[in-house]
Amino acid sequence: MIEELEDERLLQKYEQIADRLSEKGYAIVDNFLEPHEVKNLLEVLTHHQEQGTFKKAGIGSADQFTVDKQVRGDYIRWIEPSQALPPTQVFLDRMNEVMRYINRTCFLGLKDYEFHFTVYPPGTVYQRHIDQFQANDHRRLSFICYLNEDWLPEHGGNLRLYLPKQDGSEEEVDILPIAGRLACFRADLIPHEVLAATRHRYSLTGWMLDQLKELTFL
Ligand code: OGA
Ligand code: MN
Repeated sequence: MIEELEDERLLQKYEQIADRLSEKGYAIVDNFLEPHEVKNLLEVLTHHQEQGTFKKAGIGSADQFTVDKQVRGDYIRWIEPSQALPPTQVFLDRMNEVMRYINRTCFLGLKDYEFHFTVYPPGTVYQRHIDQFQANDHRRLSFICYLNEDWLPEHGGNLRLYLPKQDGSEEEVDILPIAGRLACFRADLIPHEVLAATRHRYSLTGWMLDQLKELTFL
């Protein structure tokens, strides 16, 4: 019975994601992760930090890769699915379900996904950008799942989306990175930026691809 209720709850979340994505090109879903799931993922993140496996994030892929702290100040650790710890595996399984649901309803032909843990130290930003690489345009949807407990508006760190409007202007939407919230948007269409925060800002960030991950660097 409890399991059925949980399935129903998740299905509603998947439906929200798919509906809002197809209507508006983006979706914000609160309580996508339960508080205990956020806690478990934060523990994994802390473990990876203690092991020193986070790296300064760069810009662009392969041959165009550069690191510029003014443009992008976060540290990332890519998830290797075959080595994921149990809380990370639960998260990946959830994202796999999201992908299958979106494929059934939105026909995006998604084939794979890739995720990393992300840390923005206080004061760091990611300037306005879009997530599709010029050299590798297989990223169709961007997903960010926030892990920040007790986050308040005065802590800053908003994700700011610039939604293109019919008349050529843009509408700005600011999203606080609160624990359990999922932000998702079209990777090819929506410019966005990460504003500076006064606290460390933690998340899982990733993309759904229209090609298998092993093939995207060919
Ligand atoms: C990114 C990104 C947004 C966020 O990593 O490409 O835009 O809210 N992240 O962390
Ligand atoms: Mn981005």
